[in-house]
Amino acid sequence: MPMVNGLLVLGDAMPKPLQAILIGAGQRGGDVYGAYALRHPDQIRFVAVAEPDEERRARFADQHKIPTEHQFSSWEPLLARLPLARAALICTQDQEHTAPALAAMQFGYDVLLEKPMATTAEECRQLVDAAEETGRQLHICHVLRYTRHFQTMRDILRAGELGEIITVSHRENVSWWHMAHSFVRGNWRREGESAPMILAKCCHDLDILVWLMDDRPRHLSSVGDLRHYRAENAPSGAPHHCLDGCPAEDVCPYYAPFIYEDLYPLWRNFAEGAKGFPKLVAQAKERVPGLVKALGMVSAGARRVSAYRGWPRSVVVTNPTPERLHEALKNGPYGRCVYHCDNDVVDHQVVAMQFESGPSATLTMHGHAHVEGRFTRIQGSRAELQAEFGLGGAWIEVRQHRGGEKKRYDTSDRGSGHGGGDDRLMAAFVKSLSAGDEEAALSTARQALESHLMAFAAEEARIGEKVVRMKDFRLRGDTRRRHGDTRRKK
Ligand SMILES: NC(=O)c1ccc[n+]([C@@H]2O[C@H](COP(=O)([O-])OP(=O)(O)OC[C@H]3O[C@@H](n4cnc5c(N)ncnc54)[C@H](O)[C@@H]3O)[C@@H](O)[C@H]2O)c1
Repeated sequence: MPMVNGLLVLGDAMPKPLQAILIGAGQRGGDVYGAYALRHPDQIRFVAVAEPDEERRARFADQHKIPTEHQFSSWEPLLARLPLARAALICTQDQEHTAPALAAMQFGYDVLLEKPMATTAEECRQLVDAAEETGRQLHICHVLRYTRHFQTMRDILRAGELGEIITVSHRENVSWWHMAHSFVRGNWRREGESAPMILAKCCHDLDILVWLMDDRPRHLSSVGDLRHYRAENAPSGAPHHCLDGCPAEDVCPYYAPFIYEDLYPLWRNFAEGAKGFPKLVAQAKERVPGLVKALGMVSAGARRVSAYRGWPRSVVVTNPTPERLHEALKNGPYGRCVYHCDNDVVDHQVVAMQFESGPSATLTMHGHAHVEGRFTRIQGSRAELQAEFGLGGAWIEVRQHRGGEKKRYDTSDRGSGHGGGDDRLMAAFVKSLSAGDEEAALSTARQALESHLMAFAAEEARIGEKVVRMKDFRLRGDTRRRHGDTRRKK
């Protein structure tokens, strides 16, 4: 049968877009997957939305032309109706995944569920079992698998270019300002309300390690804690909100208007990996902001910088005009002093593991990088691989031990967020459902489970100061319950 844009065409009819409902129209649901649907109306169309925040719900409904009777303030009344579509995208916060995902599968929806799939091992297993029992597709948003960068890396390993893999060291360098935004001031700052940082930030990285190695760990251990973002490190006299006259406003890197209004950290970080015109404009934003603003009148590329309203501003306030942004910083959580927040998640953690087939690996995650990005180094018996996956671009380099030849791959993809992974994940989800091509999905829910179990095991190892044997852990699961009852405080 003929295909158009990866969709199956029946007879002469044009392919129909996949009909979907959205649960949670926040940053991921509204700004990423909603935006994808608007750019690809031939592939996917949202026909209903559940979102308690009125402004977000109205904006999403307006953008996607969703009638009033298909707008809901929570997922329960939406899922209580007869299925309104084939697919359900579930993009609520971490602890609000399990119940709507289970209900959606029971009511016949195929599901795209944000990561982490759930915040306890028990709930993760429940979800995987439910998908297998109901026969529904359950896609977990491990966007890194869909990037050119990690796909190229996997191809290199599979082709045997490195010889025998001996050891991997992978770093998730979260920048200091991203850490402050998401894990000190923001949604993932408290384990009891969201998830342990190693799960929230690094289930992607653990998943990538498993995928690259085509193997799973035999045992692992972990260390780390919350070192810096604590009250005792506050500048003398710092108030609880930056805009309440902080004496350190000219020197503190975490001064909220510097991060969100000036936005220099974001553009500096972007410029590090970018090339050509985008790099020049990002650099100019700090040195000659007036020029970038003027250029924005005539150039869409410059306007993307001068009139930027995306992440992280869009998280601080919906529709972040300068006035709304300033108001939100004055009174809202993102204007808080990073030393006077109620955060408790770690700001550095290292996981050391050995795979069943022998190679060792470390994952280092921390929230103090000057430049945000994932760095990978893989040592093989024949060659070494080094790679960087940053905000502005990505590359991989392989060097042969014997001849010294160096091969460099440009794996940049600025098509969408997460190095192109966001769009490719959505395209695969649509293809998997519309064309009945389940192979388009690069992982099953059961495969996604392994990375989550590794994160729970790493937490158990860190808190209990021990080595966890994964064979036992997989059978038993973790002892962690919701609200992090095993957490060790520093
Ligand atoms: N795949 C990735 O790389 C990636 C990146 C960032 C975040 N995430 C994950 O995506 C999920 C959503 O993150 P976000 O940044 O979009 O959060 P968000 O807070 O912006 O969005 C969540 C939305 O869910 C809504 N909601 C709350 N209760 C609801 C209910 N009962 N029914 C329907 N909607 C409800 C909230 O009002 C909010 O608008 C999180 O689990 C997060 O960890 C994944």
